[in-house]
Parts: sequence; structure tokens; C-alpha cells
Amino acid sequence: MTVDTFQRVVKTLGDSTRLRLLNLLERQELSVADLVKVLDLPQSTVSRHLAHIKDQGLLSERRDGAFCYSRFTPPCEGAWCAAWSLARESLRDDPQIAADAEALDALLRARTLGSREFFDSLGSDWDRLRKVFQDDLQRARAIGRLVPRGLRVADIGTGTGVLAMEMALLGMHVVAVDQSEAMLAAADAKRQDLPDPTFVELRQGTATDLPLEDGEVDAVLAHMVLHYVPSPREAIRELTRIVRPGGRVVLVDFTAPEDRPQPDREWLQKDLGVIWQGFAIARIREWLQEAGLTNVEIELHEARSDDQDLPTTFIASADRPAEQRT
Ligand SMILES: C[S@@+](CC[C@H](N)C(=O)[O-])C[C@H]1O[C@@H](n2cnc3c(N)ncnc32)[C@H](O)[C@@H]1O
Repeated sequence: MTVDTFQRVVKTLGDSTRLRLLNLLERQELSVADLVKVLDLPQSTVSRHLAHIKDQGLLSERRDGAFCYSRFTPPCEGAWCAAWSLARESLRDDPQIAADAEALDALLRARTLGSREFFDSLGSDWDRLRKVFQDDLQRARAIGRLVPRGLRVADIGTGTGVLAMEMALLGMHVVAVDQSEAMLAAADAKRQDLPDPTFVELRQGTATDLPLEDGEVDAVLAHMVLHYVPSPREAIRELTRIVRPGGRVVLVDFTAPEDRPQPDREWLQKDLGVIWQGFAIARIREWLQEAGLTNVEIELHEARSDDQDLPTTFIASADRPAEQRT
């Protein structure tokens, strides 16, 4: 260490306000206004000492709107490291430092309370307000991160591969199948934008005769595909075949009432080319069970569209039983 460095260290730490500042800023990133409140000192005093500390290269700053927050991260080696360790240790029982810590706690508590009061005042209104963020995709992606990476899945009737790419981004290895060459070409173009395109493998084939081995994947998804398949019951059997024992089948599609005439949605045939306008939930349950699947769970989602008369949709999941040990 040079004499000059030593003098600068001693000068900075030789002032009680600077010691108080460093002590607070090591614990919490704070603005000048925060420091004025906690230290109960005039702003000019706080700013002057802060500028001195900053000149020593000891502060990192972060701007947030109109505010600038400072933080002190003690260097991990050199003169400052040793000097600050000594200062910190010596200040441990100082009543002024303890009072500063209490004042900082009070400031942070008031802030927590402020945000709690904000949400308390909103209650369920938050669901309306949060829509400004339009963050449903982000939420789905965040939840998806809870799924262990490396799962091997099949996306049957992948179309342009929107869901296959989502699954790949979550770390799943996807075999994406479609009978249409044009759809597979569109999916292939999307695949090139993935960080690792090898996470999606495209195969041409039909839902009732899939180009996958028995038990090749951990789970299979058919999202809005079944209503295009002439024999959905057979397709469910085929989806079950390609899932390993203990794996899962997930179907998403339109529902249709079984006990009363279905509203005629001819536009589904005309505009979307569907074969079926939807399926009765009892039929879906029956087909899944018939295929040997268990733990059948089906949930319904009311369609939300102001422009189109859409059927309610369902999400069905079921498990292929794990192999019995002999
Ligand atoms: C409405 S799109 C759904 C695409 C995708 N699953 C999604 O949700 O974004 C239906 C897709 O299923 C495919 N498809 C229809 N019948 C099929 C069959 N029998 N076997 C395989 N794919 C089929 C179509 O080519 C089309 O790409």
C-alpha cells in the first residue's frame, strides 16, 4: 500500500457521517432522500459526504426513474477491504450505528406496509389492473420453468409448431408430427429461431399411425387436432401407444353437448375445415379409459371471443399406468 492510499482510506473512514453512510449502504441500496430520512441530516451534508465516498470509487449507482440509488460493496482485497473489516467490527456496539439500523428498518417496514396497503385496497380488482401488463405468455413461461428439463414429448398435429417451440424453450425434446407438408415446412422455419433447433424433430405422419416407436416419449399432446381426425377413438389409442408406461396423454379440443342438440356451428366446417364440431366429455373420458389410461382429469374452459361463436374447450389428461413389477 502507498502512503497516499493509506491517507485516503484514513481520511474517508475518519469521519463519523461517512462511517454511518457506508454502514447503511453496505446493507441496503438507498437514495439521497432515503439517507436524509434515516440519518436525520440535511440533504447538503448527505450529498457532500456521498460525493466524497463516490470519488474513492466505493459506490455503485443505479438509476430508477427520477431516483438514483447508491450501494457500497466493499472491495474484497487491498487496503479498503482490510480497513472496512476493521471499521465494521469496531462499530458493532456503537449506539448511533444501532439507531441508524433501526431507522433503516422502520423505513423498509413503512415501504412494505405501503405496498401491502396498495394491494389490500385493490383486492380482486388486481386481476383487472394486471391486464395492462398483458403478461399471460410470460406467466405461462414462468410456470413452465417448474417442469423438469429434458422431458421427451410428442406434439401431434403440430401445425406451424407454436406449441412445439414453446415446449422446446422450456427444455423439452419435442417430436412434432403433422400430416401436412406445408405445416411442417412452416414449423421448420420457426425451429431455426430456437437457441438449439435440435430440440424439435419434425416427422410427417398421421394421428392414427404415428411415426414413433412404442413408449418413445414421456408425454404426448394433441392440441386442437382431434376434431380433424376421422377416427378420434383410434387416435387416442395410438397416442397411448407411443407414451412410456407412467407417461401422460394430454388432449385439448372443443366440447359438444351430448344430451341436447348442438348449436350448429357450420362456420367451423366452412372456415376451419373441421370434421367434428366437438366431443362430448363422456365420450372423451370413455375413449381415454378404453385405451387403458387412468387418472383421467378433464377441465372445461368457456370460449372467450366477441366475434365468433366458439364451443367450450376442454383440457383432458390421463396417465398410462406404470408397468407392474413381476
Ligand atoms: C388447428 S391446427 C393445430 C396446430 C397446433 N396443434 C396448435 O394448436 O397450434 C391442426 C393441425 O392438425 C393437423 N392434422 C389434422 N389431422 C391430422 C391427422 N389425422 N394426423 C396428423 N395431423 C393432423 C393439421 O395438418 C394441422 O396442422
